[in-house]
Amino acid sequence: MSARTRVAVLISGRGSNMAALIEAARAPGCPFSVTLVISSRPDAAGLDHALANGVPVRVIDHKAFADRPAFDAALDKALRAERAEIVALAGFMRILTADFVNAWAGKLVNIHPSLLPKFKGLKPQQQALDAGETVSGCTVHFATPGVDEGPIIAQAEVPVLPGDTADSLAARILLEEHKLYPRALAMVARGDAVFNPAD
Ligand code: GRF
Repeated sequence: MSARTRVAVLISGRGSNMAALIEAARAPGCPFSVTLVISSRPDAAGLDHALANGVPVRVIDHKAFADRPAFDAALDKALRAERAEIVALAGFMRILTADFVNAWAGKLVNIHPSLLPKFKGLKPQQQALDAGETVSGCTVHFATPGVDEGPIIAQAEVPVLPGDTADSLAARILLEEHKLYPRALAMVARGDAVFNPAD
């Protein structure tokens, strides 16, 4: 049996998508394993969950670095030391430098709670409500240097219901995120979704 693809998950907070990836990786047929969780914040709630599930964690506190290139260099070093093959952004609240993103192109994956290319950036659920959408959802995509940009791997649609608030819509979308992210990462690990910027 070939080795599973080594996934590092990058978080800054709650880590519910990280938890979904760790859970999915328990299945015998899953083509990836979560071998490292890195948090940009020492107080990220997701760290406890990762530790409780036997996944090694690293805190790389962005406040300890003079600038983005220095932070990204530390991130890059930690990922290479752990032989990460896929880097999954999961509520990671730092903008990464183009150098970092390009160095990991095709291996760097993000999840965003909207149907990209609609509603990039912050508060996408509120953006969807403000736009009067009747359908929203979530997207997993390969990351390119622009925030929430890059080739789409998979999407899931979620209805916007009358009376929805940003919170109620976010909760409905999050349930789909937890199913979509493992499915999309499995596609990348199996080579069924590929992004090669040189093509
Ligand atoms: C998710 O909605 C994700 O799509 C977005 O940030 C949120 C992170 O939630 N990028 P969690 O930390 O995975 O619970």
